[in-house]
Order: sequence, then C-alpha cells, then structure tokens
Amino acid sequence: MQAINVSIGVDQRLWPQDLAGSRAHCRMLAERKIISAEAAEAILGGLDTIESEITNGSFPFRDQYEDIHMNVEARLAELIGEASGRLHTARSRNDQVATDFRLWVREACDHTVGQLEALQSALLDKAEPHADDLMPGFTHLQPAQPVTFGHHLMAYVEMFGRDASRFADARARMNESPLGAAALAGSPFPIDRQMTARALGFDRPMANSLDAVSDRDFALESLAAASICAGHLSRLAEEIVIWMTPQFGFVTLPDHLTTGSSIMPQKRNPDAAELVRAKTGRIMGSLVALSTVMKGLPLAYSKDMQEDKPPVFEAFDALDLALVAMTAMVAALKPDTGRMRAAAGSGFSTATDLADWVVRELDLPFRQAHHITGAAVKRAEALGVDLAQLPLDELTAIEPGITSEVYKVLSPEASCDSRRSYGGTAPEQVRARIAEWKTRLS
Ligand code: ARG
Repeated sequence: MQAINVSIGVDQRLWPQDLAGSRAHCRMLAERKIISAEAAEAILGGLDTIESEITNGSFPFRDQYEDIHMNVEARLAELIGEASGRLHTARSRNDQVATDFRLWVREACDHTVGQLEALQSALLDKAEPHADDLMPGFTHLQPAQPVTFGHHLMAYVEMFGRDASRFADARARMNESPLGAAALAGSPFPIDRQMTARALGFDRPMANSLDAVSDRDFALESLAAASICAGHLSRLAEEIVIWMTPQFGFVTLPDHLTTGSSIMPQKRNPDAAELVRAKTGRIMGSLVALSTVMKGLPLAYSKDMQEDKPPVFEAFDALDLALVAMTAMVAALKPDTGRMRAAAGSGFSTATDLADWVVRELDLPFRQAHHITGAAVKRAEALGVDLAQLPLDELTAIEPGITSEVYKVLSPEASCDSRRSYGGTAPEQVRARIAEWKTRLS
C-alpha cells in the first residue's frame, strides 16, 4: 500500500507552496477567531522552523507520511505539540493540494514567460546585425525565394511571443483560489476565503467547492502551452541541426555547445539542439498523460489526481532546460554569411522575380509568365548557370519582349529588397519589426 500510495518523492518540491498555503490559512483562522492567537503563533513559529530545516537539509522527509502535506503536519506536531492539530481546521488535503499545485504551476508559467522573453531577446540581438544578410528561404526544404537571416530568426520571435502570451492567458485563468473548498463541499466554520485568496496572490476564490478540488485544467492548459512551445523549439532545433551539417554549412556553434566523438576526431555534433528537439517528446507526452488521467474522473477528488504532478514537473523541467539551452545556442550561433549568400542565389531562387517582371513589364498573365520562366529555368539548368547568368539572347529566344532591364531583378539582393509588403523579407521591413519587438520587450 505504501509503495503505490506514497508521493513524497515527487511532491516534496511543493514545500514552499505548502508552507505559504498553511501560513495564509492559519492567519485567516486566527483572524476569524476559529483558532486562538496563541495557537496561531505556535503554528507560524513551527512552520518557520520547518522552513529552515528544509532549506538547511535537516528536514526528515518520510515515506510513512505519504506526501508533503502530511510530512509537514507530522513534523509540526513533533515541534509544537497539540496546537499543530488546529491548523487543519476547515481544511482538507484536497483543497490544500489543489492550492499548492496551482501556486506551483502559476510560478512555472511566470518563469517560462521570463525565459521566453530572454530567448526572444537573444533572437533579436542575432537578427539585427543580419537584417541584410541573405539566405535561401525554403518550402518543402527546397530552395524557394531568398530571404534574410534576420527575417528567418524573426519568425521565431513571433512564435515565442505567442507562446509567452499563451502562458500568460493560462495564468490569468488559473489565478483563483481553491483554498476553503475543504474536502469537497465547503466548510461549516466562518472562514474568509477572500482573505486567503488575497494572501496567496489569487484574484478571487473559486466559486464552486466541487470544482475547486477536482479541477486540474489549469495544469492541462499550461501543458498545452508547453507542448506548443516545445514544438516551436523543436523546429528551431531541427533547423540548427540542418544548418550545421557540412552540406549546408550555414552556421557553427562554439565547442562548448557541441560534443565530439570518441572515435571520429572530425566530429562536432549539435547534441544540445538534438536534445531540445527530443525534449518535445516528454513535454507533449505529459499533456497526453495528464489528459488521460483526468478523462472520465467523477467529481470530486480521486486519488488518480495525485498522478498530476509527475507529468507537470517533468514537462516544466524539460522546458526549462530546453529554453536555457536554446537561448545559449542562439546567442552563440555564428552564421557563415558567405555560404548563405551563395546558397541564396542558387537553385533558381529568383525565378518568381523573373515571372513577376514579365507580368509587370510585358503585361502578360501570371500563368503565361510562369510558363516563360519555367522555360528559362530549364535552359539555365541545361547550360549549368543561374538565371542571372543566362545570356539575354537565350531569354529573348523564349520571350522576345524581355530586355536587359530584367537582370535588375534577378539577383537575390534585389529579390529580397523588393519584398517590402508589410511583414515581408525586405531589410527595411525586418528592421522595423525588430524595432517594434525591442520596444515591446523593454
Ligand atoms: N497526495 C495527495 C495528492 O497529491 C494529496 C491529497 C490527498 N487527498 C486525499 N483525499 N487522499 O493528490
């Protein structure tokens, strides 16, 4: 029974929240004269002693007391005797654990928002000096149109910005206090739930006692936000892995962020990026795990809900590490701008620019221009040259109206620079977005 029932190994990290909840509850009980001032003083003193025992490592976490709540209560009894038993008046472990866990998840969301902002800042700092530097933009991982490296990095600033706002939304919705719901039905004592809610930084008490002890969607919502965020991290991680292959050779990471091989001396492996990519599995798995635990649970509390903590702790620990590692990698990333520029011009990446020129200057329908450009690409391919190097007589053989003016749009620089529509890759647009984000983050 003890082996399956015990949770102290997992939930002992809730001790700061458990002490905060107990202090708020104790002060409220005294304020409402449910316990005496002397009892409250003894309890608060005992809780202080417990806090210092935990921080100096002498607190006895014992399996026989099941979880953090009972461990604290048992130790309190040893420290202050009879008064300790009064702390649990008008409270149950059901509202206690719901409160502690909410406080923990709320803090985790706040922490993650701060980490996301740090990652965004690192991306901005990298994007700014590379607002003009070209790289190939891909679709299907095939060269599509030239973009700037700054523009590409700024795409992630947008994604991580949405992630941060998802955590902030989840936090706002979860910020109601379950404390005082007691076991499930509320309390006959004249408790003040507003007071404990306020003391713990909640906006208000939860309005239904059954919901208060049985709701875990605050945890699910934060795991959903974490999963989406991890998905974004994995995409950037994957791009770093690809960019670092010698075949791409777009970026390098310093030695302290890569590993070597025990047998192949030439290796420089992007392990950190690979592990960020892999952590997504745990994080998304945690959402599935807790969703499955909660599905079909009758109201109110069931012991199934003790299984809420491992996935949440695992997901936020993994996300924390992934964000730290990704921020370090982004800050240290060194783009090989020469190689990226060369790649940006290859693969007929300005074919769309040729088609657009034909539409604009020769007033042909886009479909026809697309056809003309296809023929030009085929010819260039046969001659082993880029579009910009295709002689004019080759182009006029395909479409007599084409003039030497066309070469102005066939360089990747011109291609990028022309895409000045709002949110486009033109350096002026990229710089404007960087400036906006800098203001938003400061
Ligand atoms: N360890 C339990 C948990 O984490 C605390 C609540 C126990 N409540 C109960 N009625 N047995 O969920």
